[in-house]
Amino acid sequence: MQPTQLQYLKALGIDVWVDRNMPSLESAVENQSILNESAEQAASSKLRTLEKQVAKCTACVLHESRTQTVYGVGNANADWLIIGEAPGAEEDKQGEPFVGLAGELLNAMLLAIGLKREQVFIANILKCRPPNNRDPRLEEAQACENFLKKQITLIKPKIILCVGRIAAQNLLKDETPIGKMRGQRYVYADTDTDTNIPVVVTYHPAYLLRSPKEKRKSWEDLKMAVKIFNGES
Ligand code: URA
Repeated sequence: MQPTQLQYLKALGIDVWVDRNMPSLESAVENQSILNESAEQAASSKLRTLEKQVAKCTACVLHESRTQTVYGVGNANADWLIIGEAPGAEEDKQGEPFVGLAGELLNAMLLAIGLKREQVFIANILKCRPPNNRDPRLEEAQACENFLKKQITLIKPKIILCVGRIAAQNLLKDETPIGKMRGQRYVYADTDTDTNIPVVVTYHPAYLLRSPKEKRKSWEDLKMAVKIFNGES
């Protein structure tokens, strides 16, 4: 019990018996933060182990044409998880998601809601580049699905932002066109891992580069995501 509480109770004439063996609030808080810290370290070490497994993956045909896998990047304990489609040419070369022009726009979108790229975690539905940037095939998305599931379980984000149709439809197993998905609150639920995370869908930055007029709608989506994150919606 905090001294201030004790003082109040004494002033009210209430006798308070404090168990000598009871840990103080301060030590309980300290112990909890040590526990949290070690849980965070464990998660980030498991994420690195998973990255090594991803690098060796040959589960689908894309391993034949990739330069390297693109696992994902960012804060292992991020509150925000951004999910895109698949690596493009530049990402395949550098091994990091969203490093091309679309990546620059994604960074700007994140900054607009007060988030630095390093604060969030960025991943894709596919960890390997489809040749000529074609859409991922069903069997490729299925082969990669468990990696993303494990990333979500380890990172435990408080909110997921899907950028683009492929990310949204694959994550949410929903064929609704993206124009109808945006502006809605979805939930990513996985009963195996007791996961229940709000999901917001917005346009892919590469699409926004081609259709800058749609940036306004994307801004609305981002603002909605912030409200959900803050528990205001
Ligand atoms: N587009 C995506 O969806 N992901 C990337 O990593 C790069 C471009």
